[in-house]
Amino acid sequence: MAERMSTPYYITTAISYPNGRPHIGHAYEAIAADAIARFQRSMGRDVRFQTGTDEHGLKMAQAARARDITPRALADEMASHFKEMDDLLNISYDRFIRTSEAEHYAASQALWKAMEANGDLYLDRYEGWYSVRDEAFYDEKELIAGDGEAKLSPQGTPVEWTVEESWFFRLSSYQERLLALYRDQPDFIRPESRRNEVMSFVSGGLSDLSISRTSFDWGVPVPGSPGHVMYVWVDALTNYLTGLGYPDGGETFDRYWPANLHLIGKDIVRFHAVYWPAFLMSAGIELPQQVFGHGFLLNRGEKMSKSVGNVVDPGAMAERYGVDQLRYFLLREVSFGQDGSYGHESIVNRCNAELANSFGNLAQRTLSMIFKNLDGELPALDRNEEDAALVRAVAAACLDETPRAFEQLAFSVGIEAWMKAVFACNQYVDAQAPWALRKSDPERMKTVLGTLFSVIRDLAIAILPIIPDSAAKLLDQMGIAADGRDFAAIEDQAWYDALRTSGYKVAQPVPLFPRLELEEAKPDVRRQPLPPELRRPRRPPAGSPGGCARGGRHDHAQYLDPRRRMGCGPRDSRARARCMGKRRHPSA
Ligand code: MSP
Repeated sequence: MAERMSTPYYITTAISYPNGRPHIGHAYEAIAADAIARFQRSMGRDVRFQTGTDEHGLKMAQAARARDITPRALADEMASHFKEMDDLLNISYDRFIRTSEAEHYAASQALWKAMEANGDLYLDRYEGWYSVRDEAFYDEKELIAGDGEAKLSPQGTPVEWTVEESWFFRLSSYQERLLALYRDQPDFIRPESRRNEVMSFVSGGLSDLSISRTSFDWGVPVPGSPGHVMYVWVDALTNYLTGLGYPDGGETFDRYWPANLHLIGKDIVRFHAVYWPAFLMSAGIELPQQVFGHGFLLNRGEKMSKSVGNVVDPGAMAERYGVDQLRYFLLREVSFGQDGSYGHESIVNRCNAELANSFGNLAQRTLSMIFKNLDGELPALDRNEEDAALVRAVAAACLDETPRAFEQLAFSVGIEAWMKAVFACNQYVDAQAPWALRKSDPERMKTVLGTLFSVIRDLAIAILPIIPDSAAKLLDQMGIAADGRDFAAIEDQAWYDALRTSGYKVAQPVPLFPRLELEEAKPDVRRQPLPPELRRPRRPPAGSPGGCARGGRHDHAQYLDPRRRMGCGPRDSRARARCMGKRRHPSA
């Protein structure tokens, strides 16, 4: 009942073209949207989260033809890979929509009819440039020069001259209303740089938009116009309505529409921030609150492309680094909204320094000391000013800085604030030295360990949206009930004593984050083989100078307490095992 009363929040991702398997860019968007959905749930909102696949259009038809199968068979095969990716990455969607679903045809046709009834559609002849890869029409003035005589779209993709009878949408008559929207609702397009691009595009004047095709039939049929299928973007954008039950309306639609956030990549902002609101205005449907165009993920600074052979399989990355490690890295490393680069070393360094060495070790050491020295029992607390200062520092991060940044989609800023609180805890451990207090002042040791237990719980709750599986495993070990893991629970002052007197005991803790090896990159990317003369010699084996680089130390030395650092100097057998490419758990 409480959930029904809470504020609704509807978030969507772009729906991906299933003309091939998902790549890391798709995973990035799904992970970011999932972190937002989880964060909003944790703030007590009633979240509806939709993702899916965009299955029509020429691109799909051509990809299917190349494999000599039907577009539907291709879509069935590939959509299942997108779904598997989402499930693997712990994407907590409520609805996975496929645009080949019958109800989506009904929704798209209803939207079409509403635009037609408003007098915004007319039949004419289209002559102009079309990019199959972008599924987009371009004006001559937007094209850029390619090799020789070739013309390319602004995205650098090939364009072809297309002449067809087509239905048009009177986009030109929406220019003023769109500009008014951007002015009156400044957050409609974020970040600011994309808003500026869109405003200057619309200010330059809008041409009417060709919205049907006759040269192929893989699409939603245009109502009452045999031979025409809808332009793929008309039906694709409608997915956001279909998933809520449009056109029949009903409780779900009334509750969640208009969407709070369409999360998409920067390459498709125009479709969402120009065409989509114009279609909705025409059909008399309320507009979404925000379109956020995130940046692109680059492979070591390079654009991913099948021809370059650097397309990365998210499943292989998750397998190699761990799902939560991948999620954490992408959201921590990239300033959300801007392009970001990833590479093996940066993932390993970041995850080792922050997840394994800082947060994981903090939790592991604390639970382990309570287990060993207090027989697993939570102590009563007799806090002094130092303890209170730590509690305040962690609360400032977990209740203010981190959620405030997450609310703004500034993940890296929010995680940074969280990490600072983790460092504060580790400094506190070093300063209090509970292992020494065991003999000198056992009562004080109890308060130190109990204080650490309480702040670790707050840290785990605050980071749940980013690393849901690991943080939940930690909270499980800490005896924190599933309904006590949201931001409201952090504010609850009474939980510790309630848990302490409940008979709960800390068991031997299980480490959360295996330490990753900074070894030569395994083939996590689907590379095309290099000619022998370009191949690099293999790196020296582990144990020889430079064979086991623990690069995290260079970048993050200031965060690491030498007592916590796993021995990098003398080569003991554990260190050698770690250097052999195995993932190992750090011990307490
Ligand atoms: N089907 C359209 C979207 C229709 S939404 C009504 C489409 N599909 S896509 O498969 O090409 O892209 C899906 C999403 O992934 C888009 O938001 C796109 O920007 C994003 N990305 C594709 N490559 C990307 C990166 N390399 N990095 C980050 N995001 C990327 O566009």
